[in-house]
Amino acid sequence: MKLVTAPEWVLKVENLGKVFGNLSKHGIENTGPEAGTSKDSVTGAIVAAWDVSFEVAAGEALGVVGESGSGKSTVMRCIAGDQAATAGSVKIRTAPDEQLDIFNLSAAERRQLRVNKIAVVYQDPAEGLEMNVTAGGNIASPLTAAGWRNFSAIRGRASELLSRTEVPLNRMDDAVKSFSGGMRQRVQLAKAIANRPPIVLFDEPTTGLDASVAAGVLDLIRGLLEEYGLAAVVVSHDFSVIEMLTTRCIVMNHGRVVESALTDQLLEDPHHPYSQKLVSAARA
Ligand SMILES: Nc1ncnc2c1ncn2[C@@H]1O[C@H](COP(=O)(O)OP(=O)(O)O)[C@@H](O)[C@H]1O
Ligand SMILES: [Mg+2]
Repeated sequence: MKLVTAPEWVLKVENLGKVFGNLSKHGIENTGPEAGTSKDSVTGAIVAAWDVSFEVAAGEALGVVGESGSGKSTVMRCIAGDQAATAGSVKIRTAPDEQLDIFNLSAAERRQLRVNKIAVVYQDPAEGLEMNVTAGGNIASPLTAAGWRNFSAIRGRASELLSRTEVPLNRMDDAVKSFSGGMRQRVQLAKAIANRPPIVLFDEPTTGLDASVAAGVLDLIRGLLEEYGLAAVVVSHDFSVIEMLTTRCIVMNHGRVVESALTDQLLEDPHHPYSQKLVSAARA
């Protein structure tokens, strides 16, 4: 049975931890699922994530599921480099002879990873896009960061990406702030895959969209995962998203992983009481 270990990992997260504030001596023991809180009652520090480990292979999407505040986005942001982790390591292996321990890289190297190795699709398009910039301009930015210089080549690639993500080409030169929510997410997806990164992190990519629009965006994401053979992490509080996109998942509660399982098995037969509660709530 394949659980958290993937044979050919591309992304490996080990004992990742993130604390906001200063922990007291027993801050770790006094937080987590059994304590029923992620807040250190002595200092007020928040243990947003602790001891989080998983691996993801190429062509595989790992789900991270849990209620709001359980630490899902924090895990994603520490991998992406949006936030500095407090503990643990993140390794990527995107070529057979190239293994990087990304917390050991310089700030410039970390930024470069975001150009061509690790892309992020945020719940809020304003985090992933420049809202006052055109769709074409938003997609041009990772391309120029990767060294593209020729204007018509950049435009050609941008239109190819917009077609792939089903954004009408006659909107290419409009500022994304004039776009609907679903179309903004499609532009974020186009930008994310612009340099064909091997790893893409999705944080609640359809939360906040109308159901029918969300369904279209999920279909698109599923197609991109397959077409690009991505190693993906899909963060969501919504089991229908996890079910549609992932084969394995971890369940987080108060900053800790309480269960890791094949997605089908988790939905059918959740083991941890917290997972049971989540699954039955989702079915209700
Ligand atoms: N910048 C921050 N400063 C302080 N606490 C934070 C910050 N970001 C997140 N947290 C806290 O960390 C915990 C986990 O948050 P988050 O990772 O956003 O959860 P999720 O994505 O599962 O909703 C929450 O208690 C949240 O309030
Ligand atoms: Mg979140």
